[in-house]
Amino acid sequence: MLIAQVSDPHIKPPGRLAYRYVDTAGMLNACVRTLQALAPPPDLLLMTGDLVDLGRPEEYDHLKAILAPLGTRVLAVPGNHDHRDALRAAFADQGYLPAEGVLQFAVDGDYPLRLIGLDTVIPGEGGGRLCADRLAWLDATLRRRPQAPTLLMMHHPPFVTGIGHMDRIGLLDGRHGLAAIVACHPQVQLILCGHLHRTIRAVVGGRPVMTCPSPAHQVTLDFRDEAASCFRMEPPGFLLHRWQNDGLVSHVAAIGDYAGPFPFFDSDGRLLD
Ligand SMILES: [Fe+2]
Ligand SMILES: [Fe+2]
Repeated sequence: MLIAQVSDPHIKPPGRLAYRYVDTAGMLNACVRTLQALAPPPDLLLMTGDLVDLGRPEEYDHLKAILAPLGTRVLAVPGNHDHRDALRAAFADQGYLPAEGVLQFAVDGDYPLRLIGLDTVIPGEGGGRLCADRLAWLDATLRRRPQAPTLLMMHHPPFVTGIGHMDRIGLLDGRHGLAAIVACHPQVQLILCGHLHRTIRAVVGGRPVMTCPSPAHQVTLDFRDEAASCFRMEPPGFLLHRWQNDGLVSHVAAIGDYAGPFPFFDSDGRLLD
């Protein structure tokens, strides 16, 4: 099974730039072209939040139009830039989101991996939360299928990244609760996150966690506490998670057209010198 993870595309209405600079739609179109060139194609597309920039229905319409050529099922969790009910309405046809309340879900039986989505959103705020109710739902959901290899997806990563301006709007509540729960559920193979617009790896409760680069702008890598909140146009990307022979391997994929491929060896199998 091949899973593509695309996070934080921050789609605006047609013709609008994000932060007066980033053509997020054009960059997501480039991501779609890179995904279309993959062989084999991904079986599933996971989106870990900030699908759109201001949570507006017309932005979700624009997002869906950009993704349509893929023809791939999309499972999404909300980020701080999303609007719960607008996202729910936009993806109602995908058949996995609850009809009301927080956007938490488990997709069982459709794939060799079980997929669980968590909603870390605090409406109107940048930071995130996993309250006692959301954590209790997760614990109960994991307890139901302890043998099923599982991927968790959530927008705000459940660890301190060291990038101060992002940590100030990180997962402000529920980090330790989440760590305690996943520590009891070794079927959790990986926790997939967004929000950071960078690739970062950590371990929480003994389980690996990764954040995903954005197909658009990346958050500036700056560990100074006083650093301002900034982005850079570093190379855009996405993640590919490959489940084979009961093992999960994750790749970072660059978006764009690059020179190559070039052979290492000549036609006689000699290393080119
Ligand atoms: Fe974002
Ligand atoms: Fe975010």
